[in-house]
Amino acid sequence: MKRKTKLIHGGISTDPATGAVSFPIYQVSTYKQEGVGGHKGYEYSRTGNPTRFALEELIKDLEGGKAGFAFGSGMAAMTAVMMLFNSGDHVILTDDVYGGSFRVMTKVLNRVGIDSTFVDTSNLEAIKSAIKPNTKAIHLETPTNPLLKITDIEEVSKLAKEHGLLTIVDNTFSTPYWQNPIELGADIVLHSATKYLGGHSDVVAGLAVVNSEKLAEDLHFVQNSTGGVLGPQDSWLLIRGIKTLGIRMEETESNTRDIVQFLQGHPSVRKVFYPGLESHPNHAIAKKQVRGFGGMVSFDVGSAENADKLLSKIHYFTLAESLGAVESLISVPARMTHASIPAERRAELGITEGLVRISVGLEDVEDLIDDLKQALE
Ligand SMILES: Cc1ncc(COP(=O)(O)O)c(C=O)c1O
Repeated sequence: MKRKTKLIHGGISTDPATGAVSFPIYQVSTYKQEGVGGHKGYEYSRTGNPTRFALEELIKDLEGGKAGFAFGSGMAAMTAVMMLFNSGDHVILTDDVYGGSFRVMTKVLNRVGIDSTFVDTSNLEAIKSAIKPNTKAIHLETPTNPLLKITDIEEVSKLAKEHGLLTIVDNTFSTPYWQNPIELGADIVLHSATKYLGGHSDVVAGLAVVNSEKLAEDLHFVQNSTGGVLGPQDSWLLIRGIKTLGIRMEETESNTRDIVQFLQGHPSVRKVFYPGLESHPNHAIAKKQVRGFGGMVSFDVGSAENADKLLSKIHYFTLAESLGAVESLISVPARMTHASIPAERRAELGITEGLVRISVGLEDVEDLIDDLKQALE
């Protein structure tokens, strides 16, 4: 099955009970048993729900894993995966990881004894020197947010295997349409499905896919025990969103290419961060591991004041957190998505006050470029 076909026919695309081609929303918490234990595969919806299962099977197929899991948010998915580890364990993460991922590791999971170190994972030597006797996993975000750095998933997975570590990849920005971490050697894939997979700014959800029966069993145990599951309505919204992922990603890619070209030639823009640019330091790795560079672009306008001026004039780019939806969004990471990262750490990472991040949507690209042009003047 080719990729666009799999988006529509992957998983359990038709309801086996009724033949409904839009998988039904099983709005139910419990299931009748014909005698104790005599159920039809479902007992209670925290443990399993048919609509959620249809979504879990779909993401499993799209990522090429052994099992999929749906959670109430991307952060719930990440936290559940971290609950595979024990007090005293250590995890290495990408340094300019999403602010919420940094926060949960350093302000919540540290309190239960899960220690973390943040390194530039695009530098294999930096990862090697961060491995400790109690390290259990390497968590990558690639491309990163907001500087769009790329980590070589294949190389890191090899290194992880040599040291008996799990490789976890946050695939939110690329989606399975452009990048398949499990094929590159990763063990676990995470998604904030709130973004491209949902695609319409109308659902908050998280997904995880694992590559082995053992991890599937362990993660199902955590999912059922901690209970941060996705409801049937939101599961259905995601199944619907995923059907159009292919055409949305293709159109986003084309719009983004034109916008990047425009930004590069604009005198008010000091620097453009986009992995599709040949000048991007990790462009060669990106070309090797992704089929598309995505719709996220960051650019530096020099100061917070310039960023505010741009924001006050921009029309079609909505000032909002989040990304990956049909409407173009704009944000200032230092004061929004990455505000939970301490200022000195942001400075170290290069997340400046003048850094503006856009998520390119599906509007007509000429309108988007005209809008940026008038707002940058
Ligand atoms: C790369 C990445 N991972 C994880 C998350 C967290 O996902 P959620 O907001 O669905 O909890 C986000 C949210 O912006 C993100 O951008």
